[in-house]
Amino acid sequence: MSAAVDLRAGAPKHFLDIKDFTPAELRALLDSAAHYKRAGRTGKKPLTGKTLAMIFEKPSTRTRVSFEVAVRALGGDAIVLSARDMQLGRGETIADTANVLSRFVDGIMLRTNAAEKLHELARHANVPVINGLTDLSHPCQIMADMLTFEEHRGPVAARKIAWVGDGNNVAASFIEAAARFGFTLHLACPPGYWPRAEVLEWARDEGADVEVTIEPEAAVAGAACVVTDTWLSMSDSVDQAAARAATFAPYQVTPALMALAAEGAIFQHCLPAHRGEEVAAAVIDGPASVVFDEAENRLHAQKAILAWCMG
Ligand code: CP
Ligand code: NVA
Repeated sequence: MSAAVDLRAGAPKHFLDIKDFTPAELRALLDSAAHYKRAGRTGKKPLTGKTLAMIFEKPSTRTRVSFEVAVRALGGDAIVLSARDMQLGRGETIADTANVLSRFVDGIMLRTNAAEKLHELARHANVPVINGLTDLSHPCQIMADMLTFEEHRGPVAARKIAWVGDGNNVAASFIEAAARFGFTLHLACPPGYWPRAEVLEWARDEGADVEVTIEPEAAVAGAACVVTDTWLSMSDSVDQAAARAATFAPYQVTPALMALAAEGAIFQHCLPAHRGEEVAAAVIDGPASVVFDEAENRLHAQKAILAWCMG
């Protein structure tokens, strides 16, 4: 683990962001994910007797189900908690919650509206904390995305991936992945919706090949994979929906846009998707789409993450 996360001897092995890991550590996680996928139901059970608490401040289908199934398949148990139903929702501090949960469970996964809460939880917990999505990042998703890319198109290093749409939390984790896995990432986002300057600056300092443009056609040119995500994330106000739909309309991933990518380019989306908004039905339901492999790979990638954190 990198020093940024693992300063204390015997500190819990948190999985907070892609950038906290070295390329070799991430590669080992991907290898482990592929191993778990091949092993299927006959895989090892390093979580036997262990319990993961999962706290959700926001809705989830894939993250909740894939983590729960992964923990059970690894021999452990999972408790799903809605922040609304916890004392956390009535003002109990994150620090106290972290200390209490650490007495009961062996790991905590958090999906939260505010990345600071994740980091505060990790500072106070004596057990590993896993990022199940914040307003700023979604690292578990990107591990599944890397696994999916490599299954379909071979090693991702030095390949070109295009992100089209909102420079959001998933885009930020893709940017971190570009630096760590060594692929070229060109993002096309409307003005005002570019990834955070801090993330872009970090990537540049790491020597990553990351560029942002306002032109989808330029971003996808020659890309081996085109990725998009919703135009309205869970942390965005629904009041913005109409204005965002208008701003993002030229950024829909259409068959015409896919035709500008490399021959045989694949299409990825973390889901949930909105056909006719960020992606045309003909693309997401067409032959280039690998979105359901990508969703399935959440399970395998998270088995690797859970085994590393808690095994
Ligand atoms: N991709 C993803 O994280 O999906 P959920 O919101 O359903 O968990
Ligand atoms: N950007 C989306 C991802 C959902 C998995 C959101 O935060 O709502």
